[in-house]
Amino acid sequence: MTTNMFEGKKVRLRGVRADDWVHFLRWGSDSEADRHGWQVWPPQGEEAHREFARQESLKKPESGNFRLIIETLEGEPAGSLNTRVDPRRFSFEYGIALGRDSWGHGYGEEAVALVCRYMFGELRLHKVHAWVYAFNKRSVSMHRNLGMTLEGTLRDGQFTDGRFWDVHIFGMTDAEFFAKHGEHWGDLDQPAGR
Ligand SMILES: CC(C)(COP(=O)(O)OP(=O)(O)OC[C@H]1O[C@@H](n2cnc3c(N)ncnc32)[C@H](O)[C@@H]1OP(=O)(O)O)[C@@H](O)C(=O)NCCC(=O)NCCS
Repeated sequence: MTTNMFEGKKVRLRGVRADDWVHFLRWGSDSEADRHGWQVWPPQGEEAHREFARQESLKKPESGNFRLIIETLEGEPAGSLNTRVDPRRFSFEYGIALGRDSWGHGYGEEAVALVCRYMFGELRLHKVHAWVYAFNKRSVSMHRNLGMTLEGTLRDGQFTDGRFWDVHIFGMTDAEFFAKHGEHWGDLDQPAGR
Protein backbone atom coordinates (compact mmCIF):
# COMPACT_ATOMS: atom_id res chain seq x y z
CA MET A 1 0.00 0.00 0.00
CA THR A 2 1.24 3.49 -0.83
CA THR A 3 2.24 5.96 1.88
CA ASN A 4 1.46 8.88 -0.45
CA MET A 5 -2.04 10.23 0.20
CA PHE A 6 -2.01 11.86 -3.25
CA GLU A 7 -1.85 8.45 -4.91
CA GLY A 8 -4.93 6.37 -5.65
CA LYS A 9 -5.64 3.15 -7.53
CA LYS A 10 -5.43 4.82 -10.95
CA VAL A 11 -3.71 8.18 -10.65
CA ARG A 12 -1.15 10.09 -8.64
CA LEU A 13 -1.19 13.85 -8.11
CA ARG A 14 2.22 15.50 -8.24
CA GLY A 15 3.67 18.99 -8.37
CA VAL A 16 4.16 20.75 -11.70
CA ARG A 17 7.66 20.45 -13.19
CA ALA A 18 9.26 22.90 -15.60
CA ASP A 19 9.36 20.23 -18.32
CA ASP A 20 5.55 19.82 -18.10
CA TRP A 21 5.26 22.74 -20.55
CA VAL A 22 5.02 20.24 -23.42
CA HIS A 23 1.89 18.72 -21.87
CA PHE A 24 0.27 22.12 -21.25
CA LEU A 25 1.00 22.97 -24.90
CA ARG A 26 -0.62 19.72 -26.08
CA TRP A 27 -3.66 19.99 -23.78
CA GLY A 28 -4.10 23.67 -24.68
CA SER A 29 -4.47 22.97 -28.39
CA ASP A 30 -7.84 21.18 -27.93
CA SER A 31 -10.38 24.03 -28.08
CA GLU A 32 -13.37 21.76 -27.47
CA ALA A 33 -11.78 20.38 -24.30
CA ASP A 34 -10.91 23.96 -23.27
CA ARG A 35 -14.55 24.94 -23.78
CA HIS A 36 -15.83 22.06 -21.64
CA GLY A 37 -13.26 23.03 -19.00
CA TRP A 38 -14.58 26.61 -18.96
CA GLN A 39 -13.31 28.79 -21.81
CA VAL A 40 -11.41 28.67 -25.09
CA TRP A 41 -8.02 30.33 -25.06
CA PRO A 42 -6.14 31.66 -28.09
CA PRO A 43 -2.94 29.75 -28.93
CA GLN A 44 0.21 30.63 -27.03
CA GLY A 45 3.78 30.06 -28.12
CA GLU A 46 6.29 27.63 -26.73
CA GLU A 47 7.98 30.29 -24.58
CA ALA A 48 4.72 31.23 -22.85
CA HIS A 49 4.07 27.58 -22.00
CA ARG A 50 7.64 27.13 -20.77
CA GLU A 51 7.28 30.20 -18.55
CA PHE A 52 3.87 29.10 -17.23
CA ALA A 53 5.18 25.64 -16.25
CA ARG A 54 8.34 27.15 -14.75
CA GLN A 55 6.33 29.61 -12.64
CA GLU A 56 3.90 26.89 -11.51
CA SER A 57 6.79 24.58 -10.63
CA LEU A 58 8.21 27.22 -8.26
CA LYS A 59 4.96 28.15 -6.48
CA LYS A 60 4.47 26.98 -2.91
CA PRO A 61 1.05 25.44 -2.24
CA GLU A 62 -0.38 28.06 0.07
CA SER A 63 -3.44 27.48 2.27
CA GLY A 64 -5.02 25.01 -0.09
CA ASN A 65 -4.37 26.97 -3.30
CA PHE A 66 -2.32 24.87 -5.71
CA ARG A 67 -2.03 23.32 -9.15
CA LEU A 68 -1.12 19.65 -9.54
CA ILE A 69 -0.42 17.33 -12.45
CA ILE A 70 -2.63 14.24 -12.65
CA GLU A 71 -0.53 11.32 -13.83
CA THR A 72 -1.19 7.60 -14.20
CA LEU A 73 0.55 5.25 -11.79
CA GLU A 74 2.95 4.53 -14.68
CA GLY A 75 3.92 8.22 -14.59
CA GLU A 76 2.11 9.26 -17.78
CA PRO A 77 0.75 12.85 -17.44
CA ALA A 78 -3.04 12.81 -17.96
CA GLY A 79 -4.08 16.36 -17.04
CA SER A 80 -4.01 18.94 -14.30
CA LEU A 81 -6.19 20.49 -11.63
CA ASN A 82 -6.06 23.66 -9.62
CA THR A 83 -7.79 24.71 -6.42
CA ARG A 84 -9.01 27.94 -4.87
CA VAL A 85 -9.99 28.26 -1.22
CA ASP A 86 -12.56 30.69 0.15
CA PRO A 87 -11.37 31.03 3.77
CA ARG A 88 -14.48 32.88 4.92
CA ARG A 89 -16.76 30.07 3.74
CA PHE A 90 -14.33 27.27 4.69
CA SER A 91 -14.92 25.99 1.17
CA PHE A 92 -12.95 25.40 -2.00
CA GLU A 93 -13.50 25.14 -5.73
CA TYR A 94 -11.36 23.52 -8.38
CA GLY A 95 -10.80 23.35 -12.08
CA ILE A 96 -9.87 20.04 -13.70
CA ALA A 97 -8.93 19.18 -17.25
CA LEU A 98 -7.60 15.92 -18.67
CA GLY A 99 -6.13 15.42 -22.10
CA ARG A 100 -8.75 13.89 -24.42
CA ASP A 101 -6.96 10.53 -24.63
CA SER A 102 -7.30 10.22 -20.84
CA TRP A 103 -11.07 10.76 -20.65
CA GLY A 104 -13.43 8.04 -19.47
CA HIS A 105 -10.98 5.96 -17.39
CA GLY A 106 -12.13 7.25 -14.01
CA TYR A 107 -9.02 9.41 -13.62
CA GLY A 108 -11.03 12.58 -13.05
CA GLU A 109 -13.20 11.10 -10.35
CA GLU A 110 -10.25 9.69 -8.44
CA ALA A 111 -8.19 12.89 -8.76
CA VAL A 112 -11.01 15.01 -7.30
CA ALA A 113 -11.55 12.49 -4.47
CA LEU A 114 -7.84 12.62 -3.57
CA VAL A 115 -7.96 16.43 -3.40
CA CYS A 116 -11.17 16.40 -1.34
CA ARG A 117 -9.62 14.05 1.21
CA TYR A 118 -6.68 16.43 1.62
CA MET A 119 -8.86 19.55 1.84
CA PHE A 120 -11.36 18.04 4.28
CA GLY A 121 -9.06 15.74 6.24
CA GLU A 122 -5.96 17.94 6.52
CA LEU A 123 -7.06 21.56 6.06
CA ARG A 124 -10.41 21.14 7.82
CA LEU A 125 -12.39 22.76 5.03
CA HIS A 126 -16.12 22.13 5.19
CA LYS A 127 -17.49 22.30 1.64
CA VAL A 128 -16.50 21.85 -1.99
CA HIS A 129 -18.23 23.53 -4.93
CA ALA A 130 -17.85 22.80 -8.63
CA TRP A 131 -19.18 24.83 -11.55
CA VAL A 132 -20.12 22.65 -14.52
CA TYR A 133 -21.73 23.50 -17.86
CA ALA A 134 -25.08 21.71 -18.03
CA PHE A 135 -24.02 20.42 -21.48
CA ASN A 136 -20.89 18.78 -20.06
CA LYS A 137 -22.41 15.31 -19.63
CA ARG A 138 -19.15 13.61 -18.74
CA SER A 139 -18.42 16.10 -15.97
CA VAL A 140 -22.02 15.99 -14.69
CA SER A 141 -21.72 12.16 -14.42
CA MET A 142 -18.36 12.45 -12.70
CA HIS A 143 -19.70 14.88 -10.10
CA ARG A 144 -22.75 12.73 -9.42
CA ASN A 145 -20.49 9.66 -9.07
CA LEU A 146 -18.37 11.57 -6.58
CA GLY A 147 -21.47 12.00 -4.42
CA MET A 148 -21.99 15.69 -5.08
CA THR A 149 -25.42 17.31 -4.98
CA LEU A 150 -26.74 19.57 -7.72
CA GLU A 151 -27.41 22.64 -5.59
CA GLY A 152 -28.58 24.99 -8.29
CA THR A 153 -28.35 26.07 -11.90
CA LEU A 154 -27.30 29.49 -13.13
CA ARG A 155 -29.50 30.08 -16.15
CA ASP A 156 -27.43 31.46 -19.03
CA GLY A 157 -24.52 31.33 -16.59
CA GLN A 158 -21.62 31.48 -19.03
CA PHE A 159 -20.99 32.42 -22.65
CA THR A 160 -19.20 30.20 -25.16
CA ASP A 161 -19.66 29.07 -28.76
CA GLY A 162 -21.86 32.03 -29.62
CA ARG A 163 -24.45 31.85 -26.85
CA PHE A 164 -25.08 31.64 -23.13
CA TRP A 165 -25.38 28.24 -21.46
CA ASP A 166 -26.76 27.03 -18.14
CA VAL A 167 -24.16 26.28 -15.48
CA HIS A 168 -24.74 23.72 -12.72
CA ILE A 169 -23.29 24.26 -9.27
CA PHE A 170 -22.49 21.00 -7.49
CA GLY A 171 -21.59 20.83 -3.81
CA MET A 172 -20.57 18.36 -1.13
CA THR A 173 -19.86 18.76 2.59
CA ASP A 174 -16.95 17.11 4.37
CA ALA A 175 -19.38 14.78 6.20
CA GLU A 176 -20.97 13.72 2.90
CA PHE A 177 -17.54 13.07 1.43
CA PHE A 178 -16.38 10.93 4.37
CA ALA A 179 -19.67 9.00 4.44
CA LYS A 180 -19.23 8.03 0.78
CA HIS A 181 -15.47 7.69 0.47
CA GLY A 182 -14.48 6.47 3.95
CA GLU A 183 -13.42 8.48 6.96
CA HIS A 184 -9.74 7.67 7.18
CA TRP A 185 -7.10 7.36 4.52
CA GLY A 186 -4.23 5.99 6.54
CA ASP A 187 -3.83 3.19 9.01
CA LEU A 188 -2.88 5.31 11.99
CA ASP A 189 -2.09 3.60 15.24
CA GLN A 190 -4.96 3.85 17.67
CA PRO A 191 -4.16 5.00 21.22
CA ALA A 192 -3.80 2.10 23.69
CA GLY A 193 -7.11 0.72 24.87
CA ARG A 194 -9.12 1.76 21.81
C1 LIG B 1 -14.73 16.08 -17.10
C2 LIG B 1 -13.48 15.23 -16.84
C3 LIG B 1 -12.60 15.90 -15.79
C4 LIG B 1 -14.00 13.89 -16.28
O1 LIG B 1 -12.90 13.05 -16.04
P1 LIG B 1 -12.94 11.54 -16.59
O2 LIG B 1 -11.78 10.83 -16.01
O3 LIG B 1 -13.08 11.58 -18.05
O4 LIG B 1 -14.28 11.10 -15.91
P2 LIG B 1 -14.61 9.70 -15.28
O5 LIG B 1 -14.05 8.62 -16.20
O6 LIG B 1 -14.17 9.70 -13.87
O7 LIG B 1 -16.20 9.71 -15.33
C5 LIG B 1 -16.85 10.03 -16.52
C6 LIG B 1 -18.30 9.60 -16.40
O8 LIG B 1 -18.99 10.19 -17.49
C7 LIG B 1 -19.59 9.14 -18.24
N1 LIG B 1 -19.57 9.57 -19.63
C8 LIG B 1 -18.57 9.46 -20.51
N2 LIG B 1 -18.95 9.99 -21.68
C9 LIG B 1 -20.21 10.45 -21.52
C10 LIG B 1 -21.14 11.10 -22.36
N3 LIG B 1 -20.83 11.42 -23.63
N4 LIG B 1 -22.35 11.40 -21.87
C11 LIG B 1 -22.67 11.10 -20.60
N5 LIG B 1 -21.81 10.48 -19.74
C12 LIG B 1 -20.60 10.17 -20.21
C13 LIG B 1 -18.77 7.93 -17.99
O9 LIG B 1 -19.48 6.77 -18.31
C14 LIG B 1 -18.47 8.11 -16.51
O10 LIG B 1 -19.58 7.77 -15.72
P3 LIG B 1 -19.79 6.27 -15.17
O11 LIG B 1 -18.54 5.94 -14.41
O12 LIG B 1 -20.99 6.39 -14.30
O13 LIG B 1 -19.98 5.40 -16.34
C15 LIG B 1 -12.67 14.98 -18.14
O14 LIG B 1 -13.44 14.25 -19.04
C16 LIG B 1 -12.17 16.26 -18.77
O15 LIG B 1 -11.11 16.76 -18.40
N6 LIG B 1 -12.92 16.83 -19.75
C17 LIG B 1 -12.55 18.06 -20.42
C18 LIG B 1 -12.50 19.29 -19.49
C19 LIG B 1 -13.69 19.35 -18.57
O16 LIG B 1 -14.81 19.14 -18.96
N7 LIG B 1 -13.41 19.67 -17.30
C20 LIG B 1 -14.42 19.72 -16.25
C21 LIG B 1 -14.93 21.08 -16.05
S1 LIG B 1 -16.14 21.13 -14.74
